[in-house]
Amino acid sequence: MRVLDALARLNAAYPWSHNAHYHAWIMRGLPRRFDRALDVGCGAGDLVRLLATRAAQVHGIDSDSRIIDAARAATAADLPVTYAVADGGSYDRGGPYDVITCVAVLHHLPLGAALSHFRRHLAPGGTLVVVGCAREDTWVQHLLGLVSVLLNPLYGWARNRGRRAAAPPLAMTAVTRQPDVPYTELVREVRRILPGARLRRRLFWRYTLVWRA
Ligand SMILES: C[S@@+](CC[C@H](N)C(=O)[O-])C[C@H]1O[C@@H](n2cnc3c(N)ncnc32)[C@H](O)[C@@H]1O
Repeated sequence: MRVLDALARLNAAYPWSHNAHYHAWIMRGLPRRFDRALDVGCGAGDLVRLLATRAAQVHGIDSDSRIIDAARAATAADLPVTYAVADGGSYDRGGPYDVITCVAVLHHLPLGAALSHFRRHLAPGGTLVVVGCAREDTWVQHLLGLVSVLLNPLYGWARNRGRRAAAPPLAMTAVTRQPDVPYTELVREVRRILPGARLRRRLFWRYTLVWRA
């Protein structure tokens, strides 16, 4: 218990976003230039602003109006970016999209329906990238989870350059929830709805999924 308490105190002192950690990886997997992108559950808009460095137009949607206000406030007016308060599982405007991203949001949505919805709204040749959270239900994932528990404070310390943070980053103020779909069920649904998708279990309680239409 003492070790866990110490880890929790360190994590609170040196917070960092497990989601933003994957943004650079997402960008590496996308084309140099693309036309239209949609970020589903965009939170404070960090990824939206990154996508805007390569896209003609990026649209960020989130069901939480408070975080959309924060995203708008953090986005320079000259970026090709728009935001809307909307449900990511049913939003059907502005498509088809060349890129759809969805970071730490899929577990907020009905899984099968959301994957089918994203597939329908991708342009031919378009790319869907999901960074997601699933319930750990195999020993490999439990092991990755354990390694993550130990690495988390080290990463946090390094990312904060050894300085205690006064407050967590804005992105970490977005709504969160615990995933209830087990990873093995997620794999089954992905294979059924997005054949050929590349799915990998990652550190820091995340998996990644890439599918090209
Ligand atoms: C853990 S945060 C991730 C935010 C952002 N993608 C990031 O990586 O920082 C989950 C986000 O999903 C949003 N969300 C939850 N349910 C949603 C829904 N049905 N449609 C759109 N966004 C939703 C929440 O408001 C929250 O901003």
